[in-house]
Amino acid sequence: MKGLAVEHVTHTFGDKRTLCDVSLTVKPGELVCLLGPSGCGKTTLLRLAAGLEGLQVGRITIGADTVAAPGVNVPPEKRGVGLMFQDFALFPHLSILDNVMFGLEGLKADEAQRRAMAMLDRVGMADFANAYAHTLSGGQQQRVALARALAPRPRVMLLDEPFSDLDTTLRAQVREETVAILKESGPATLLVTHDPEEAMAMADRIKVMDGEGRIVQAGTPEEIYFSPANSYVASLFGKLNRMTGTVKAEQVKTPLGTVSAKGFADGADVEILVRPEGIGFAESGAPVEVAEARLLGRRSQLRLRSRGSDDGHEFVAHVQGGFRHSGDCPAAVSLDPAHTFVFART
Ligand SMILES: Nc1ncnc2c1ncn2[C@@H]1O[C@H](COP(=O)(O)OP(=O)(O)O)[C@@H](O)[C@H]1O
Ligand SMILES: [Mg+2]
Repeated sequence: MKGLAVEHVTHTFGDKRTLCDVSLTVKPGELVCLLGPSGCGKTTLLRLAAGLEGLQVGRITIGADTVAAPGVNVPPEKRGVGLMFQDFALFPHLSILDNVMFGLEGLKADEAQRRAMAMLDRVGMADFANAYAHTLSGGQQQRVALARALAPRPRVMLLDEPFSDLDTTLRAQVREETVAILKESGPATLLVTHDPEEAMAMADRIKVMDGEGRIVQAGTPEEIYFSPANSYVASLFGKLNRMTGTVKAEQVKTPLGTVSAKGFADGADVEILVRPEGIGFAESGAPVEVAEARLLGRRSQLRLRSRGSDDGHEFVAHVQGGFRHSGDCPAAVSLDPAHTFVFART
């Protein structure tokens, strides 16, 4: 296939298994995010794809070429890979233009300069061509690093948590620009991150890894968010309300109402997970009292206490905007099925 393919890669440091049978493909022009907790092997996978780490088990292909397999190890500079790592700093002793020209030694000087300037122009940094890295802000350095990685027109771009040093406001903007530039340039892009929001904001497809270096779910951002494969994936996006119950006629009763449990057998022990945004006030719902309300900014976090059959059970709910509550005013809530998940208890 065109683009990048990682097939059945397993990697061990000493006796510690870091990657476990990882397979993924990224088509040209596509952006795939590998999302996993710190230490699960994300950087190791990128280093293997780039040729900075020797492959032990599996195969990596770029375009029609096998670049890594047992007995095969194409050197990094022959792989057509662009890298943007968190600690992949710009050369401080070179101008911005020379930084971007660095990967273009193969070209004639005037052609290299023309291409580097075009790339700097594309990332909005042409005016800084003669500046030095230390005079630029974090976001500007990030743009130059992207220009430097893309200038040689790599077939594959590998990005390792590239925005984690940027502050929140800047991060969102740089992310957006980066996606636009990558889409326009067209390499197969694999980005690794531990930040679910980053993966959601940038990816065409997400691969979720667990702490053991295993891919546990693959899908579009919508699939990962609305149809998580297990409680681990469901809880990536923040703390959930957890309840347990027993299935009867493909339904399960909870203190906040009856939940559909399609496909589960009668008597199955299940775990019911509800996102805080999945609990909403409803005219006729399960009775609760609001124990506490806290304004978080755009939304409020409420601590709810159930007043029904399972008296005293506490829940966390998020509602848009501010929330005013007067002492012991009674309320009722219902569950949004889009944010309610049922999994077998193991
Ligand atoms: N060169 C190495 N030698 C030994 N252990 C390593 C080496 N590189 C990474 N590790 C270990 O492998 C695991 C995965 O590391 P890494 O790929 O950096 O994870 P991530 O990028 O997901 O945080 C960690 O436990 C790390 O300590
Ligand atoms: Mg890492």
